[in-house]
Amino acid sequence: MADLTSDFLGIKSPNPFWLASAPPTDKEYNVRRAFEAGWGGVVWKTLGEAGPPVVNVNGPRYGAIYGADRRLLGLNNIELITDRPLEVNLQEIKAVKRDYPDRAMVVSLMVPCEEDPWKRILPLVEDTGADGVELNFGCPHGMSERGMGSAVGQVPEYIEMVTRWVKKHTRMPVIVKLTPNITDVRKPAQAAKDGGADAVSLINTINSITSVDLDLFSPEPTIDGKGAHGGYCGPAVKPIALNMVAEIARDPDLRGLPISGIGGVTTWKDAAEFLALGAGNVQVCTAAMTYGFKIVQEMISGLSDYLDEKQIGLDDLVGRAVPNVTDWQYLNLNYVSKAVINQDLCISCGRCYAACEDTSHQAISMSDDRVFEVIDEECVACNLCVNVCPVEDCITMEAMDPGTVDPRTKKVVEPEYANWTTHPNNPSATAAE
Ligand SMILES: Cc1cc2nc3c(=O)[nH]c(=O)nc-3n(C[C@H](O)[C@H](O)[C@H](O)COP(=O)(O)O)c2cc1C
Ligand code: SF4
Ligand code: SF4
Repeated sequence: MADLTSDFLGIKSPNPFWLASAPPTDKEYNVRRAFEAGWGGVVWKTLGEAGPPVVNVNGPRYGAIYGADRRLLGLNNIELITDRPLEVNLQEIKAVKRDYPDRAMVVSLMVPCEEDPWKRILPLVEDTGADGVELNFGCPHGMSERGMGSAVGQVPEYIEMVTRWVKKHTRMPVIVKLTPNITDVRKPAQAAKDGGADAVSLINTINSITSVDLDLFSPEPTIDGKGAHGGYCGPAVKPIALNMVAEIARDPDLRGLPISGIGGVTTWKDAAEFLALGAGNVQVCTAAMTYGFKIVQEMISGLSDYLDEKQIGLDDLVGRAVPNVTDWQYLNLNYVSKAVINQDLCISCGRCYAACEDTSHQAISMSDDRVFEVIDEECVACNLCVNVCPVEDCITMEAMDPGTVDPRTKKVVEPEYANWTTHPNNPSATAAE
């Protein structure tokens, strides 16, 4: 079994799977059970200032979208930070950390955007023996209207300012959790780095309305006839999170800034993808809320088997795909492929035909007895048929060998790499060397 021991900012954990700050990490009972189930670490549910705790709604706080099999694809929530008293949370954090010294215990914090509240709360967290803090500049509802959460995370100057205060008042490693509700994630990441952050974590939830009740004419979840936007997470947000992680990982000015990857991680494979794109570890929320704490076992065994099979260590995986993330203009325009249908796997459903005939390039033929075949003369290799085919691996994209003739363009497939920057049709092309 591969060694999954993780060292993130000097915080050791037996594996790189941490629970994200959310209901799974809201109390001692949960976190103890999570550690017993095998989670490597947790980011405790966000703590606020001492005093009267925040107040949540008493109606439904989650909404969801589903796949056709009612598998949960996206979760929306209008929950706030912890609604339990600060002292109770601090006592529980201390007790759990004492009993599980080998697990990562990071505490998420959100207090007003002034230096004093940060100065007050940090020593209290340090006293618990916690390994680090995560600054919640991400929650997009409820607290942001009060000038916290994403209201801070959307203004790079505030991120830098608060991060500086926090670094000044604590010796603990500081992770800045970023909001995806911005246009260019590199800006807030840079601000966190400039403020002295030890790492960034992303993504927090995405502004969303999951559905509308068409009898009440109200967004769901509906509270007494009204709804508010919430934060979206779960498998549906993974592509957005992966892109944002990659954008930070490949930015020359941000290179080396440790990243904790969050957003839709449900299986070991999701986690491995985040790691390959530069995340040093991953955090999980929706998958634990959907399937329970035991899912971490599949993540541990799956990642371990994969590393064994590839004969690489965890550190070798981190960032391995980053050099292959590029911009469109650098993709090889001389690479030509064609769709190929495996007739043994085809169930003759006709979805590829409908998609290609109606919305792509009329490159699939259908015979009277429902045999579907690709017409190479028309196929532009868009991949739509692969995406809509219900049978995995039934349609594959096969690269054409250099030297052969593409029946669509009638041109020989060139062996050399050539991209848009030197293409003759590009008015701003630079002369090929
Ligand atoms: C019900 C709920 C409550 C959450 N509360 C917090 C929170 O208090 N602090 C925080 O930083 N993130 C919070 N999050 C966001 C998660 O930590 C995580 O960033 C997000 O859900 C994306 O991960 P996922 O796709 O694995 O769920 C919450 C998410 C959910 C679903
Ligand atoms: S790859 Fe695109 S163009 Fe080619 S057969 Fe499939 S849908 Fe049609
Ligand atoms: S979508 Fe897939 S299974 Fe359905 S007809 Fe096309 S190749 Fe066959």
